[in-house]
Formats: sequence, C-alpha cells, structure tokens
Amino acid sequence: MTTNRTFTMLKPDAIENGNMGKIIDMILQDGFTIKAMKYTRLSTDQAAAFYAVHKERPFYGELVEYMTSGPIVAAILEKEDAVASFRKLIGSTDPAEAAEGTIRKAYAESKARNAVHGSDSDENAAIESDFHFNASEIF
Ligand code: RTP
Ligand code: MG
Repeated sequence: MTTNRTFTMLKPDAIENGNMGKIIDMILQDGFTIKAMKYTRLSTDQAAAFYAVHKERPFYGELVEYMTSGPIVAAILEKEDAVASFRKLIGSTDPAEAAEGTIRKAYAESKARNAVHGSDSDENAAIESDFHFNASEIF
C-alpha cells in the first residue's frame, strides 16, 4: 500500500548556494502540497541518528559533518504516490546520473552534496516525519 506523504530536507549546500526558494518552487510546480515545514539545523546526534542506516559506509562521517554544517529546511509533502513521485523529481543520488529536469540535476554539487533528501519508502517517510515534527505542526 502506498500513502500520499513523503518527507524531504533541503540540505545545507542548497541553502548555502541560495537555491532554497527555487527548489521549493520546483516541488510546488510538480504538484506537491506542503503539510509541514521547518527551517532548522541538525545537531550531530540528530544527523547521526537520521543516517544511522549508513553508519558502516565509508562516507558516514563526512555525511554527518555535511548535514550539520548549516541550516536545512525539513518538510512533509503530500501528493498521490508521494514517495516514488518525489524520488523521481529529485533524481539520482549522483547529479552526473540525474535526469534532465530533476532537482539534483539542476542544483546538486556532487554525489555527497546533493541538495535534497527524499524518503525511500512509506515506512521511512513516516519515521522521518515523526523525527522532525509533532502532530501539532502538521497541517
Ligand atoms: P537521501 O537519503 O539523502 O535522499 O539520498 P539517496 O537516498 O539518494 O542516497 P543514499 O544512498 O540514501 O545516501 C544518503 C546520502 O549520503 C550521501 N552520500 N555520499 N560520497 C558518497 O559516495 C556518498 N554516497 C552517498 C549523499 O548526501 C546521499 O544523499
Ligand atoms: Mg536515502
């Protein structure tokens, strides 16, 4: 069963490079509605927990350092088949492989600094949304 919600973060490079507004516009133009949104900065503990699934990977330390290097925008998005539809909009992890018209093709710097996060399953979308938002912050 698919749900109609996913979770995203606009990563520190996207904010640093002045692409926050343009990326939010691409998300809205693609038909997503915003159910919750927060401008915040992850602590090391939060970033380490969020990406714990990657803790054995060689890039884990670098990933946690990068994700805590500056503010991010966290959001819950709604659209039919949200998880798959949003993964399509953001494009491949590595911008060199990302399709034309995707957010990562337009704004990612590299495979590591790739502008945006998108949940990879309905289950993770729910876990990640709960990680960042209380029920009272979701509209
Ligand atoms: P995300 O979880 O952030 O939406 O990205 P993703 O599913 O496309 O990629 P994933 O495999 O889950 O990797 C999570 C994030 O780790 C960084 N990464 N760096 N240096 C590297 O080889 C490398 N590989 C992955 C990226 O920031 C990636 O989005
Ligand atoms: Mg992932």
